[in-house]
Amino acid sequence: MLSTTVKKCSGWLLLAASFSITTARLNSISGSQGYPTREIAGVFVVDTPLVRAAEDFAISHSSHPVYKHVMRSWLYGVLMINANETLINHVNLEIHAVSTLLHDLGWYKGNSSIISPDRRFEVDGAIAARDFIQNHEDGKSWDERKVQLVWDAIALHTERSIAYFKELDVQVVSKGIQLDFSGPANGVAEEDYLAVTRAFPKDDLKDSVNNTFLWLCETKPTTTYDTWMQPWGDNHVEGYSANGKRRYDLIFKNLNP
Ligand SMILES: *[C@@H]1O[C@H](CO)[C@@H](O)[C@H](O)[C@H]1NC(C)=O
Ligand SMILES: *[C@@H]1O[C@H](CO)[C@@H](O)[C@H](O)[C@H]1NC(C)=O
Ligand SMILES: *[C@@H]1O[C@H](CO)[C@@H](O)[C@H](O)[C@H]1NC(C)=O
Repeated sequence: MLSTTVKKCSGWLLLAASFSITTARLNSISGSQGYPTREIAGVFVVDTPLVRAAEDFAISHSSHPVYKHVMRSWLYGVLMINANETLINHVNLEIHAVSTLLHDLGWYKGNSSIISPDRRFEVDGAIAARDFIQNHEDGKSWDERKVQLVWDAIALHTERSIAYFKELDVQVVSKGIQLDFSGPANGVAEEDYLAVTRAFPKDDLKDSVNNTFLWLCETKPTTTYDTWMQPWGDNHVEGYSANGKRRYDLIFKNLNP
């Protein structure tokens, strides 16, 4: 009697196990939204000419540490999407890939017309990504709504208090990038997270990010006043001062009782 129960139980377990594997496979197929895929660090990602070109563009307009950061952010984001039925059904994987791969173009310290003297780096990146899409053969057929989602996703990726309340396509870009700083969260399993980190090690992330914020505060300080970047200038950059230039200093200037 006992052994029958055990047999029955293990039969159910086997059935349950094979069922969940099938469900996982179905998810990864339906999760690809009909796009071709390729595998990177154990993650199946959308593989279209536009996404390949976005990765090439990121490689040629980023330092190596930043390239690895955008790749990890992409892969963590895909893991997060795959862990959530709502996201699988509502997030466009090409928008997610292109936005995440191009989100830090505004950090490129090389000779590039992407970097402006007067715009936040997020806006430089958003504008460059829009140009990239509109100059690509397949991107030309994107409707304005899709392009706008990429622009918004990149421009707002650091402003979580806004991005997390925008369209899901915008939310997941910001949240996927955040995973590179927080560690596994949002349904991403630790072993999947670590496989990505092994493929694109993040030993150089901290210094690269710190140096980039210092560089932005040094070279285009006006784009950092009154933003989350300001403390890097206040604490570490000689001669940097937002005083008199913050909204706090200016907002009531022309309002007389
Ligand atoms: C899935 O994502 C949606 C949209 O972000 C969110 O509202 C929901 O809580 C998530 N579900 C789980 C189980 O995390
Ligand atoms: C920067 O690039 C432009 C055009 O691509 C080129 O004309 C210029 O010589 C370059 N400057 C430097 C310092 O490499
Ligand atoms: C960032 O750089 C500044 C200036 O070199 C340094 O004082 C600070 O400790 C660095 N922060 C981190 C977290 O490495």
